[in-house]
Amino acid sequence: MNFIGQHILSVQQFERADIDRLFSVADMMEPYARRQRLTKVLDGAILGNMFFEPSTRTRVSFGCAFNLLGGEVRETTGIQNSALAKGESLYDTARVLSGYSDIIVMRHPEAFSVAEFASASRVPVINGGDGANEHPSQALLDLYTIRKEVSGQGKSIDHLRIAMIGDLKNGRTVHSLCKLMRLYNNLYFTMVAPAELQMQQEVVEMLREAGHTVVVTDKLEESISKVDIAYSTRIQEERFASKEEADRYRGRFRLNQSIYTEFCEPNTVIMHPLPRDSRMEANELDNDLNENPNLAIFRQADNGINVRMALFAMILDVVDQVDSHSRSVNWYTNR
Ligand code: NCD
Repeated sequence: MNFIGQHILSVQQFERADIDRLFSVADMMEPYARRQRLTKVLDGAILGNMFFEPSTRTRVSFGCAFNLLGGEVRETTGIQNSALAKGESLYDTARVLSGYSDIIVMRHPEAFSVAEFASASRVPVINGGDGANEHPSQALLDLYTIRKEVSGQGKSIDHLRIAMIGDLKNGRTVHSLCKLMRLYNNLYFTMVAPAELQMQQEVVEMLREAGHTVVVTDKLEESISKVDIAYSTRIQEERFASKEEADRYRGRFRLNQSIYTEFCEPNTVIMHPLPRDSRMEANELDNDLNENPNLAIFRQADNGINVRMALFAMILDVVDQVDSHSRSVNWYTNR
């Protein structure tokens, strides 16, 4: 696909060659993402960062990525703080906000709402998460992280074994990651979830049709014993009818250092889109893993900057100008 001027609504827009291109631009962003160099290539451009659902990483990293390219960010957070709470339609909001911005990132609690918004927008829209449906930029940064982590072990994405753990029914990050990974060859997926929260059948079938192996289980220990990646997720409480219902599943799959040592291969990479639920009753990824060199969760969050910078640069067609608008930073940096 040609990224220029495009909306990014679903990972199903991509082919493998698109991902390769995006990842090479993300690699090129490294000195800017690490604040060793500055670029002003998007000087004067405005990002409308519209988050109608809670977010820390996605909102801030999209905003920082745009700032790091030299652009300005205008933000709305929470439906209650926007005119959507006064009955304004997504159509009207999109028509108005797209007159104020050069590009928009939007998160919204309803599936497919971002696509509806994009159809009325006059500027490109990136889906920052639409309900339980998709989270394409997270899947891209997850895959970018997977590639980086396993290439250090002499492996490529093809033939990897990955366990996805937790709320696979409601987790949009795993939906997008599976749909993106279907483009690779001969992967071995283990879906670890309580039966009620298992991966949607449609996604399982899509992977099988693409030639991958998919095992569905509710047993953690045996599932993580032969994998390259253990990708843990949070119970998506906000998608349940009540907190009590979510409580039934919280803490069902806990990974800590002693379980890791006993069951995982020595190089298994641990990932999580974050936030990890660190409350005692959940504690899906224990703090005692923090010193484990294979815990990639914070590298994963850092990589979000590179991948989001690459998306902006490609959609706004400035990739070739990034370096010519750059200089080194003025301040001390140890990055
Ligand atoms: C995820 C999300 O919002 O879907 N977080 C994120 O964007 N990094 C995962 C989650 O909230 O559990």
